[in-house]
Amino acid sequence: MKSIFSKAGVVIASLVLPLASYALSPPSQADHDFQRRCILLRRTFRPDHTKVLVAEFLPKGTNWTNAPFVPPSCGFYGSGAIFQVDACRLRVNITTSSTSNVIAEIILPATWEKDGKRVITTGNGGLNGCIALNDLTYASALGFVAIGTNNGHDGFSGEAFLNRPEVIKDFAYRSLLVGTDIGKQAAKQLYEKSPGKTYYMGCSTGGRQGLKLAQDFPELFDGILAAAPANDFLDLIINGGQIYALVGNPGAAGYLTTEQWVKVHQLVLSECDRIDGVADGILEDPRKCRPRFETLLCDREAGQTWESHKCLTSVQIEALNQVFGPLYGVKGEFLYPRMNPGAEIEFDLGIRLFGGPNIIIDWVRYVVLNDTRWDFNSSWSLEFAETVRALDPFGISTWNPDLSHLRNAKHKLITYHGLADGFITSENSYLYYDYVSRSMGLPSRKLDDFYRFFTISGMGHCGGGDGAWYIGGAGQPGTAFPSGLPPSEHCGVLMDLVKWVEKGIAPERVRGTSIGREGEQIVRDHCKYPLKSTYVGSGNPNRPESWKCV
Ligand SMILES: *[C@@H]1O[C@H](CO)[C@@H](O)[C@H](O)[C@H]1NC(C)=O
Ligand SMILES: *[C@@H]1O[C@H](CO)[C@@H](O)[C@H](O)[C@H]1NC(C)=O
Ligand SMILES: *[C@@H]1O[C@H](CO)[C@@H](O)[C@H](O)[C@H]1NC(C)=O
Ligand SMILES: *[C@@H]1O[C@H](CO)[C@@H](O)[C@H](O)[C@H]1NC(C)=O
Repeated sequence: MKSIFSKAGVVIASLVLPLASYALSPPSQADHDFQRRCILLRRTFRPDHTKVLVAEFLPKGTNWTNAPFVPPSCGFYGSGAIFQVDACRLRVNITTSSTSNVIAEIILPATWEKDGKRVITTGNGGLNGCIALNDLTYASALGFVAIGTNNGHDGFSGEAFLNRPEVIKDFAYRSLLVGTDIGKQAAKQLYEKSPGKTYYMGCSTGGRQGLKLAQDFPELFDGILAAAPANDFLDLIINGGQIYALVGNPGAAGYLTTEQWVKVHQLVLSECDRIDGVADGILEDPRKCRPRFETLLCDREAGQTWESHKCLTSVQIEALNQVFGPLYGVKGEFLYPRMNPGAEIEFDLGIRLFGGPNIIIDWVRYVVLNDTRWDFNSSWSLEFAETVRALDPFGISTWNPDLSHLRNAKHKLITYHGLADGFITSENSYLYYDYVSRSMGLPSRKLDDFYRFFTISGMGHCGGGDGAWYIGGAGQPGTAFPSGLPPSEHCGVLMDLVKWVEKGIAPERVRGTSIGREGEQIVRDHCKYPLKSTYVGSGNPNRPESWKCV
């Protein structure tokens, strides 16, 4: 299945986007000197191994939705990418080896100097190859010089990896390093000032990239925001293959239709929604939820079927128990944690819109076996998974628990994960946090100095869902609020990170907002693990003061 994608991918996979409207709104009051210096970069900006492809001034209002330079399979990343400030745009081609190169977009806002001279690099999703344009416009609106790369190849597929280890290396981590380096040099040249603090933000594969930086390149970034990370990458892929084989493959006896997933979701809510004291469709702690799927079992002797009684077969129930239980390998070793109960609707959406386990197939074909004809249905098995696990190119698994260099550098890491994530289970983020804690011998009150993990109830993969999911994080801008910016009462988790890095004010909670089904506003303060969001027993649950972290 599709585990590692950002919601982005879901949409694009099934849409062919028109490539027409690259609309500019009328030019705003522009600083002519800034414009001139921007365009001059075309000739004068010449770092090693780097060629400037575009240097242009973009006025506030520029709309990158359906921009012609975006590969069609990356179309989603342009949606909601509206410039809120005048900016200088650089598109560069960075040679990383004789067989690889990285394309980077660098957005340099006119407001940079007054907004703190910050630089931020953004991440990618799935196996792509897609620059998160909407993350770039979001961050530049907040004054950051914003950098995004194509991660070493264009588009959504992993085909570019075939027999090109240097391209895999770019994907595993190198793109971020070269993109950030060139972006900082561009800032220095354009503004004639040295950049201040350097940040990173990304979700999904972007979250994995963030953890890779925290683990292996801790000196480079002052603050890292890693959301719904696809770390333990190989086991994540393997788990995706197992899940697809069990419940996602239309040819499998355990396959469930969308209607059946809705039924399963209803069962989960009926058993678990009240555990946190409020029946609102949001599970504050899905780890406490142990649904009994046998409740939905057909009475075989009575000849019951889905058609007659909306019940499920024994094989389907067994498959559900496996999906909502941990995955063990052929030798009985633990591989990957269970799916989040409560995430059934997004989970089903992922399986269906991806039309199969595309990430697993691409990874096996183009990285593991170098065999473009490898067939999932006839060749996938848990035994085969051992072959996938055996190859960890450039440490892409991203499972090193030693963050001591990050700690020594006094740099900061925030991770967060939607507790209704149907693509990458949030249980993996608890596992990693606890693994770091045990390995480093640091209780939470000490990890708090440099690593904080927030659980976002009711949030799907990177965003969306029934809870107060909008927190101003990666992959969210443009999808939640038409303005592309958080509501004024809240600056968002990115600026929480900035406050921590620059003022030493560490975030205790992350405020989320959203609009509920009946148009009501939901606001909730999401807690820092291991604290849990707990209903105070009275008051409107849509108000933050009705909950506390205990
Ligand atoms: C941006 O362009 C898209 C596609 O042309 C359009 O649907 C959208 O309304 C535009 N947004 C704004 C704010 O102009
Ligand atoms: C980028 O540079 C490489 C050489 O390193 C070249 O092969 C490739 O065509 C260039 N791409 C673009 C879009 O200019
Ligand atoms: C596996 O086979 C089923 C038919 O039995 C088909 O619907 C499905 O698309 C196939 N999946 C993949 C990944 O090839
Ligand atoms: C496939 O190619 C990669 C290098 O890109 C190599 O590491 C791997 O061993 C190859 N796999 C096989 C089965 O030859």
